[in-house]
Amino acid sequence: MNSFLFFFGIFFRTLFQKANFALPAFCLFFILSASATEAAATYQQCIACHGEQGQGNRQLKAPVLAGQSAKYLTRQLVNFKVGLRGSHEKDTLGKQMQVLSKQLVTNKDVTSVTAYLSKLPAVKISQISSGDLKNGSRYYQGKCGACHGGQAQGNPAFNAPKLSGQHSDYLKRQMLNFSTGIRGTHSDDKLGRQMAMMAKTTSGKELDDILHFIAMQD
Ligand code: HEC
Ligand code: HEC
Repeated sequence: MNSFLFFFGIFFRTLFQKANFALPAFCLFFILSASATEAAATYQQCIACHGEQGQGNRQLKAPVLAGQSAKYLTRQLVNFKVGLRGSHEKDTLGKQMQVLSKQLVTNKDVTSVTAYLSKLPAVKISQISSGDLKNGSRYYQGKCGACHGGQAQGNPAFNAPKLSGQHSDYLKRQMLNFSTGIRGTHSDDKLGRQMAMMAKTTSGKELDDILHFIAMQD
């Protein structure tokens, strides 16, 4: 009788422990899948401009978002929300994005939509760019590669975004925005200010060659 009770006890204890583990695991799975669906739902508001696969839209001047680091995307959305980006009177496209970002809740929508976008596979876009590839490579490695990576793949350690796979005309507009003070001037925008300094070191044919080199990376 005693041994019966003993095994009976073990049986229930094991069952209880399993349930103890299974229940939170089930809840976690449920929460994770719910937040993935939520992120996809949030992204519905963005598709009209940034495309279903996050491939951007050259006509609407909306950049590629797929495969960009979540940390960079989060910083940009927060910068738009708090007015560190998109506040300059000449930044009409930044202003448009600023209005849209204000509808997102930082610790909820922003976090989930940027995690979702960073996991979307990089999309192959058609590039319109021309320049001297050899010079572009040399200038790029000398002036940009240390932060953005040898193939413009980005470097999280320096908070430098991926530039490869991005529309060349978007990159060029950002370089001009940085060098003319439309982006990266706010005193709290430390990383934007850093990039604005870098942007001022190049222009004209040299910049076109650099952008052509970036466009030729995967
Ligand atoms: C009406 C069109 C439009 C919609 C809708 C839109 N965007 Fe944008 N977005 C833009 C444009 C245009 C830019 C480029 C702004 C600039 O040139 O500085 C941009 C820029 C961005 C950037 C900066 C990317 C970078 O490389 O720095 C992020 C991040 C972004 N959008 C996320 C979103 C998210 C998330 C949504 C949905 C909640 C969204 N956008 C909805 C047009 C749009
Ligand atoms: C000291 C490091 C550093 C160097 C060198 C540097 N960058 Fe950057 N770059 C950054 C950082 C950091 C950001 C992100 C700024 C922000 O968060 O707003 C950035 C952002 C950018 C952006 C905006 C991308 C987007 O999606 O909107 C472009 C374009 C860019 N860099 C191009 C270049 C080019 C071209 C060069 C070389 C001429 C260069 N960078 C050199 C650190 C650097």
